[in-house]
Amino acid sequence: MDPAKLVINDNEYELPVFAGSEDEVAVDIRKLRAQSKVVTYDPGYGNTGSCESSITFIDGEKGILRYRGYSIEELAEKSSFVEVCYLLIHGELPTEVQLDIFKHKLTHHSLLHEDMKKFFEGYPASAHPMSVLSAMVASLAAYYPESDDPSDLDLNVIRLIAKLKTIAAFSYKKSIGHPYVYPRNDLSYTEDFLNMMFAVPAEAYNSPDLLALTLDMLLILHADHEQNCSTSTVRMVGSSGADLFASISAGISALSGPLHGKANQEVIDMLERIQADGGDYNKYIEKAKDKNDPFRLMGFGHRVYKNFDPRAKVIKKTADRVLSELGIRDPLLDIAKHLERVALEDDYFGERKLYPNVDFYSGILYRAMGIPTNMFTVMFAMGRMPGWIAQWIESKKDPDAKIHRPRQIYMGSTERHYRPIEQRG
Ligand code: MLT
Repeated sequence: MDPAKLVINDNEYELPVFAGSEDEVAVDIRKLRAQSKVVTYDPGYGNTGSCESSITFIDGEKGILRYRGYSIEELAEKSSFVEVCYLLIHGELPTEVQLDIFKHKLTHHSLLHEDMKKFFEGYPASAHPMSVLSAMVASLAAYYPESDDPSDLDLNVIRLIAKLKTIAAFSYKKSIGHPYVYPRNDLSYTEDFLNMMFAVPAEAYNSPDLLALTLDMLLILHADHEQNCSTSTVRMVGSSGADLFASISAGISALSGPLHGKANQEVIDMLERIQADGGDYNKYIEKAKDKNDPFRLMGFGHRVYKNFDPRAKVIKKTADRVLSELGIRDPLLDIAKHLERVALEDDYFGERKLYPNVDFYSGILYRAMGIPTNMFTVMFAMGRMPGWIAQWIESKKDPDAKIHRPRQIYMGSTERHYRPIEQRG
């Protein structure tokens, strides 16, 4: 492609332009500062490509989300979370033998080192599960240190996915003062997690595989989302040479923010606030439209999707069926459905592209499945784990990879000299 021409102070600079496999076009500015002493300015990197990646493609205008070229709609309907983990990390759907080996490894690495149970004893019951999760994942490096042997990394990837659900379930059990339920080798990934959480094997539910399949679908839909805040954090920490566990732990911390992964918890907190205030959802619709009112609808809108979040469409289709099959009657869910209906009919939200996003519906389904609200973001982290790992591995293999070191524009004091305290006033 023809280079871009940039004119600064009557000087013209040529910058290479290239396109990706989906015809996204980028200007390569790597040499701009050396040529012109000028840097670009893009707080939050909202319009800056940090890397070339072959893992996930998003078209925000068309509402497209694909993992390694496969649409999330197809994967949610036909695949499994464990198979999607393999796809994201290895780049291809597994053969039957490859999948069986992958499943066997995940099953037989789900136990935590018994000494790690002591860590849980040190946390107060009130500790937020995300802070426990981040600390425990970082601590895995103490038991499984990184080495130069590539097979160790392969095994640590397995350990991370396999042990994450055990750490999550143990932190929940600790928070409610219940004994830990250990992993079972005869259950699938999601069945095992639900059993460790609720100590109720899948067969105890009136729809034995419905909860596990619903959780599988939710984890698939959260499995990756290109260079979002937590994934960019994983790449940035990894760019310093930090090990996999430290990088993922940093990603978990980034995800814990209410503007990112904790938004699903904020949705339920919002619904509970509306319910406590008499359930008048129309009152809160008007509050959300009032620019002088700080109240905003949580779980609506998205920085990347300019119309609808494709993940929300998949979950919405499933939520109605799952809630009726589970026989769930929950006033919060009724409020949620009223909010969704009114917001979708109101031009105020349509004009601002404020459609329900993945966090709006996932919080409703997690609640219907009996998962406590403060565990919702942990569920997001469990789903995102394969994406973080795939992106971290890709960043390590990137020939252009270097330590992330953005520049800045300094706006502070120009040079001044020290004055003794008696001369300050
Ligand atoms: C995500 O899935 O990571 C969230 O939608 C946030 C984002 O992509 O920026």
